[in-house]
Amino acid sequence: YDYDLLVVGSANADLVIDVERRPAAGETVLGGDLAVHPGGKGANQAVAAARLGAATALLARVGDDSHGRLLLDSLRSAGVDTVGVLVGGAPTGVALITVDPEGDNSIVVSPGANARLTPADVRAAGSLFHASRVVSAQLEIPLETVVEVVRNLSPDSRFVLNPSPPRPLSSEVLAACDPLIVNEHEARVVLGDACVSEEPADWAKLLLAKGPRSVVVTLGAEGALVCDSSGVTRVPSVKVDAVDTTGAGDAFTAALGRQLGSGASLAEAAEYAARVGAAAVTKRGAQESYPTAEEVDAL
Ligand code: RIB
Ligand code: NA
Repeated sequence: YDYDLLVVGSANADLVIDVERRPAAGETVLGGDLAVHPGGKGANQAVAAARLGAATALLARVGDDSHGRLLLDSLRSAGVDTVGVLVGGAPTGVALITVDPEGDNSIVVSPGANARLTPADVRAAGSLFHASRVVSAQLEIPLETVVEVVRNLSPDSRFVLNPSPPRPLSSEVLAACDPLIVNEHEARVVLGDACVSEEPADWAKLLLAKGPRSVVVTLGAEGALVCDSSGVTRVPSVKVDAVDTTGAGDAFTAALGRQLGSGASLAEAAEYAARVGAAAVTKRGAQESYPTAEEVDAL
């Protein structure tokens, strides 16, 4: 394989303001200075994997504008192959992010060019799919584009999906996931009416019953649950002081996919990914906060 990981997904400019608390409807609050960071769940995953040393490519679309150039710079300096980053068609996606004193965020995304990443773009990138051991996706691009990704997977490659922001998934997409990676909110949306329990371990089993070959439920500071046909295993978290959780889930997903491609078991890969995610929350921003393999080992 030429690539350990091919990421298909979004690239956004993150416009970030620190706030004491979020405004209610009709209210104005004053925040800190505006910071502009390269982000987007797809670009974040690609940068996270490349920082860990994985040979990584990204299939995405950005605008022909300064935000697009910010993203291409960040991707290239992390070592991501940007041959699959298409330019033009709409402005680069933007995420408006507020970060509170606990390091928790709220995000509104304007998809822009991400919404113009089409099934035809996926078909045109067919050679990238044949060259990649693991393929990962998220849901800041059109769902029909993700469906086309699933249809273009080569028989031996592994597909990892974080359905964020969440929406119900077809059985065709679910059956391709190995694993499906969800947080609590995403688990509830993907389960829909099948969410008949408040127990994360039950969510993992109920999600597995919907067709994925494996499932990971991330639980923030409580770690994660991994689930496959051999049952549910709890993976511990690493205790750190959170500064900014933005993009930590993307780093987790990328690290997990990368480790699975290197032959790790699901539990081993999730344990490593939890350390990568923990390192990411200790620094501001998404892509700029991702650790190298040496920094993960030192944690
Ligand atoms: O997952 C974090 C990302 O979500 C941010 O970088 C922002 O761009 C939004 O897509
Ligand atoms: Na961070």
